[in-house]
Amino acid sequence: MKILLIGDIVSRLGRKTVSELLPSLKDELSIDFVIANAENLAGGRGATVETLDEMMQAGVDYFTSGDHIFWGEEVEEILEDEGMRVLRPANFPNDVLGRGCTVIETDDYKLGIINLIGKTFETPPVGATDVFRKADEIIEDIGTGFPIVVDIHSEFTSEKVALAYYLAGRVSMVAGTHTHVGTIDARILENKTGFVTDLGMVGPYDSVIGVDKNIIIQKSKYPYPQKFEWVKTGTAVFNAVLVEVDNKGKCVQIDRVDRIIP
Ligand SMILES: [Fe+2]
Ligand SMILES: [Fe+2]
Repeated sequence: MKILLIGDIVSRLGRKTVSELLPSLKDELSIDFVIANAENLAGGRGATVETLDEMMQAGVDYFTSGDHIFWGEEVEEILEDEGMRVLRPANFPNDVLGRGCTVIETDDYKLGIINLIGKTFETPPVGATDVFRKADEIIEDIGTGFPIVVDIHSEFTSEKVALAYYLAGRVSMVAGTHTHVGTIDARILENKTGFVTDLGMVGPYDSVIGVDKNIIIQKSKYPYPQKFEWVKTGTAVFNAVLVEVDNKGKCVQIDRVDRIIP
């Protein structure tokens, strides 16, 4: 089974890039399943029914998310309706909207998707519990021996690397998200678990994580609050990782799929 993992899709330019690129990429690379991080899908803050539909039309099969998913106006609708296919990090308490794990079974395959969030952020996620123990709990519940993909949404590189080694042999792939910067370390760890520290993003290339660079420069230089503006036109970046997993859940191949679209 070949699974494409797409980094955080940022705003309008991110969606446009996925719509233009993904259908041909699926053919070219014989992709069976596509997972994308949707936390910045709609105007950079959360996702909406319309933007999720747009991405499903383009070929995304399931969505993970992170800290920003709760900022969207339709958060209840998209997280509570399983038909929207959006996970939020599983290590939030049970009374937080949505769910953090799914197991999809069809005639052709069985696939588990787990979404987790790290604890070290500029604004730490309120209520998030220990990511390692939550992963243990979920894996004990759903079992192993079939393809399982984990999205660890985290700012902290060492936390992602440590989690990947911790889960090696129990899941097929551990993919980091959130920083919007793709890392070059995609590799297969011991016991055939694929890993990358960060998938990156799909969105404006000439920006700081998708936001107008001048706003972030001002925000970094002065203590004044800044209103974020997401770059809507220009060159786009597409960051993803393609993993090939056997039916026992072992990762047999991992490759970065990165494109710059002028
Ligand atoms: Fe993000
Ligand atoms: Fe995030």
